[in-house]
Amino acid sequence: MKNAATNSVVPPGIATAGLAVRLSSVTRSYGKGAAAVTALDRVTLDIPKGTFTAVMGPSGSGKSTLLQCTAGLDRPTSGTVLLGDRDLTALSENKLTLLRRERIGFVFQAFNLLPSLTAEQNVALPLRLAGRRPERGAVLDVLERVGLRERAGHRPSELSGGQQQRVALARALVTRPDVLFGDEPTGALDSRTGREVLTLLRGMVDGGQTVIMVTHDPTAASYADRVLFLADGRIRGDLDSPTADRVAERMTALAVAPC
Ligand SMILES: Nc1ncnc2c1ncn2[C@@H]1O[C@H](COP(=O)(O)OP(=O)(O)OP(=O)(O)O)[C@@H](O)[C@H]1O
Ligand SMILES: [Mg+2]
Repeated sequence: MKNAATNSVVPPGIATAGLAVRLSSVTRSYGKGAAAVTALDRVTLDIPKGTFTAVMGPSGSGKSTLLQCTAGLDRPTSGTVLLGDRDLTALSENKLTLLRRERIGFVFQAFNLLPSLTAEQNVALPLRLAGRRPERGAVLDVLERVGLRERAGHRPSELSGGQQQRVALARALVTRPDVLFGDEPTGALDSRTGREVLTLLRGMVDGGQTVIMVTHDPTAASYADRVLFLADGRIRGDLDSPTADRVAERMTALAVAPC
């Protein structure tokens, strides 16, 4: 087993060429004094481009915080986050917003589609927000990639949960982000529909996309190249080429191990 923490030896700025993400001693705490909570505790981590990473751990272990700090949706209290060769922690709020729009895709457990817009309009939204004129062909192409071109004119209420999540996936991909983040993207789906979404994600990674996904489900994690295990805000280990059984074993061990 490779220890994720040992990836930290190389100082930032060196040998980052093949890396999508580098976290160096990232800490995120909330509150002060006795009430302070350390959601992430000096997390150090490299994620190579074109790989699929699953993040697992008990509830409250810091998974969402890790994702949000890595995606520039939240700022660490200390430490640095490199996306490619850009240090997110050094960017102004405005620059960070722009970078998020251009370089990052995010899908959530709740699909967060706008109910009054069609699938096509929902997918085009990030381009509009970035001040780009959405090309219809490009938007329909992304819908095609998720198998929903024929549903372009449908509103979310006219689509199943799995279809809505696929629209959300298309919306996250339309800007061609460097990294696609998912926070329990299959959490609200039944297992068959979840598998469809995971198969799509796997296919995107095989096509070169970098994906980082939080999940509670060992089967979902088995679609990844590597699973990171978090407990109490720290990385407790990782697993390459995971199978659902081995992931489940490690989760059980994590739950009983003293932290
Ligand atoms: N805004 C906040 N203010 C205070 N504490 C917070 C805040 N956000 C998160 N936390 C705390 O940080 C810790 C990690 O939270 P996080 O949401 O990252 O966990 P998680 O692993 O995603 O959990 P879950 O599996 O339940 O989604 C928790 O103890 C949580 O209560
Ligand atoms: Mg969470």
